[in-house]
Amino acid sequence: MKTAFINIKELIQIEDLPKKYVSGKEMSKLPTLKNAFLIVENDIISDFGTMDNLPNNIHFNSIIDVTGKLILPTWCDSHTHIVYAGNRVQEFVDRIHGLTYEAIANKGGGILNSAKLLQKTSEEDLYAQAATRVEEVMQLGTGAIEIKSGYGLTKDAELKMLRVIKKLDKNYPITIKATFLGAHALPTEFKDRKNEYLTAVIENILPTVAKENLAEFIDIFCETGYFSVEDTEQLLEAGKRYGLQPKIHVNQFNAIGGIQAGVKYNALSVDHLEAMRDEDIEYLKNTHTMPVALPSCSYFLSIPYTPARKMIDAGLPLALATDYNPGSTPSGNMNFVVATACIKMKMTPEEAINAATINGAYAMGLEKTHGSICRGKKANFVVTKKIPNYNFIPYSFGNNHIDRIFIEGVEI
Ligand code: NIG
Ligand code: FE
Repeated sequence: MKTAFINIKELIQIEDLPKKYVSGKEMSKLPTLKNAFLIVENDIISDFGTMDNLPNNIHFNSIIDVTGKLILPTWCDSHTHIVYAGNRVQEFVDRIHGLTYEAIANKGGGILNSAKLLQKTSEEDLYAQAATRVEEVMQLGTGAIEIKSGYGLTKDAELKMLRVIKKLDKNYPITIKATFLGAHALPTEFKDRKNEYLTAVIENILPTVAKENLAEFIDIFCETGYFSVEDTEQLLEAGKRYGLQPKIHVNQFNAIGGIQAGVKYNALSVDHLEAMRDEDIEYLKNTHTMPVALPSCSYFLSIPYTPARKMIDAGLPLALATDYNPGSTPSGNMNFVVATACIKMKMTPEEAINAATINGAYAMGLEKTHGSICRGKKANFVVTKKIPNYNFIPYSFGNNHIDRIFIEGVEI
């Protein structure tokens, strides 16, 4: 089955050889081809080039003329919590009335609120709620996504979440990676017994997660009032024994050394980074750890944005993700994330698109198959409406510029 897309106004994020990721000054380059063609064979990109080089000796099953439209890879959203039950809309209203995110969490709301509801939600119902969100983000142009557990906080409920993630991966064309986040918050029953909870996560839940192959990554909320750097090292050490690579929540409100712990355990990514010290930026240099910024979380909670400019100017790579979750970011729109990164973090459109595609793919271990228009990679791309150029996507923020979406060669 061969399909040719022809007369593409501009084909964005092309690669001849797949790169791991882009960093520093390289992030300001976004390779494109004007007046291009793209050939898809089954679920794979087989060729692309300029229209004057369109092969005339190939039989195509269909030819799609996209005159005036751009094509870019689907977004790679490397940090979400979209398997959750219900919502926390009341906390949103409470915050408008003056309560802080921290105060809500301290009185048993926040993550614990979501956990209470999830524990009594059936696996079928939880799947149905999460499936709606998967469908929603696919329609927003996301073609690969990471999903975390962490709203279970008991063995049963954590495993239930991870099974739902597996089932979503099986039933939807979008690629899904699972992360075990048992150490997301301290359940009320373990109040003042944090070590006991951590031991339960390590000795009781983690072995089953690994045995049943339910996650590839391990995560912890390393933050004042949640889990310490010491807890983080203990968990990551255990994760390592079971072959789970870290992708961790660090430096959201306070810089307490979580980045250093992540790098020490070869984290694939360190995420949030709203509170960054110079030494944290320094420490990330020359590592394999991808820093991940979550600007729609900063937007929703009115907290500082990750200092992207400073980090990229220091030569670091950066990925962008949504953090889609009921408490701090009830939105999975990568188009909004890209626009917010440009508007609020002063990333250029080239940097933001790189961060949301190729670097996001790396932050999920998918850089060989996703994140760019490259021969042999998955045929995951978006055809835009007729827009002037790619700068228009963040410029005209909040509007829908997507015309058609293809995931693994199939229009969704
Ligand atoms: O990434 N920071 C930790 N966890 C989530 C939010 C959790 C919640 O409020 O439900 C985050 O922002
Ligand atoms: Fe998160």
